Amino acid sequence: MTNIGDVFANLADTGEPPLISQLARASWLAGAAKSAVSLGICDKLSGRKETAEWMAKELGANPLHTEEMMNSCVAAGLLVKTGNEFQNSEESDKYLVKGKPTYYGEAFTYLSSLGSLFDQVDTAMLSGEEMSHEDEFESEEAEAAYWTHYMLAMDQWGGRMQEDMLLDNVDLTGKKTFLDVGCGSGVYTRAVCKKYPDLKGILFDQEKALPLAVSLVKEAGMSDQISTLAGDYHTDSFGSGYDAVLFSGALIQEPGDAQILLLKKAFESMNSGGIVIIQDIFKIGPYTETSPKIALESLVAAVFFGGSGGVVSGDETEGFLAEAGFTSPTQIPLPGVYSIVTAVKP
Ligand SMILES: C[S@@+](CC[C@H](N)C(=O)[O-])C[C@H]1O[C@@H](n2cnc3c(N)ncnc32)[C@H](O)[C@@H]1O
Repeated sequence: MTNIGDVFANLADTGEPPLISQLARASWLAGAAKSAVSLGICDKLSGRKETAEWMAKELGANPLHTEEMMNSCVAAGLLVKTGNEFQNSEESDKYLVKGKPTYYGEAFTYLSSLGSLFDQVDTAMLSGEEMSHEDEFESEEAEAAYWTHYMLAMDQWGGRMQEDMLLDNVDLTGKKTFLDVGCGSGVYTRAVCKKYPDLKGILFDQEKALPLAVSLVKEAGMSDQISTLAGDYHTDSFGSGYDAVLFSGALIQEPGDAQILLLKKAFESMNSGGIVIIQDIFKIGPYTETSPKIALESLVAAVFFGGSGGVVSGDETEGFLAEAGFTSPTQIPLPGVYSIVTAVKP
């Protein structure tokens, strides 16, 4: 079972309105899965087949709750039950066991934590206020932990699926310098620098966001090829002399006029013949404003950024690029988290 539709198929078999009753309970399943991940149930079941009683002892949890929880994880497709024993499903074993190279747990917990925003969409719509979750922390440690989690989530979410698409669709042959604005974990810069060993990567992000990127560069042994520049992309200089500039998942945070200013800043920092790459969630090609991927991401962006950021179309982005001075725009719809639009500095 790898599809939420399959999970719900027999939930609706109650005489209730089929779609509406499933929508009413969608957060139940998501909540059970979120609790399972936070308790490390899939970690504990890695390579094992165990009873609920065993799990309750491992967790120090109520045995009845544990049994019902594990049955619900079977309903959600995370576990498989044989007799009275449970084991991970193929998908949860691959993606929800900490330490595996395919681990997706940080992305899962980050994305599912956004569910609480959806509960408040009505309030946000009426107030029009930003619901950013980045401003209040109890301590410096909590703030640092938030940023590590957010950056790791971006790495696992976009990075894994997107890096090959970026490499396959954008040719950087002959380019010497690559600036990654709002770089997050730096996953794309590591990928392009690996493919093009003569390329120098520069990671630009807010000071508080950079520590994970720095440690991942070190871990990859790429400290000679990739450097960092801490700053606010609105107010601090990007430097100059770049042959390629990437904005990945960054412009979505900004309204159109701010996107144009950032693109102008990129333009000024680039060499003639340089390429600007915007990799983001776009209403582009088959991904229209009502396709689930676009509609829900647009809503998150709108409530997160107070209605000022958001998902734009490829054509709108072409307009922003032209205003910034770029030519030869190319829209590349992709089946990943992000699509791509590129343009050239003449
Ligand atoms: C959605 S994440 C995308 C991260 C990464 N580029 C990716 O695609 O995985 C947005 C990034 O923009 C950065 N950012 C937000 N506001 C910024 C600002 N004013 N100056 C610099 N970076 C900023 C955040 O810190 C975060 O790393």
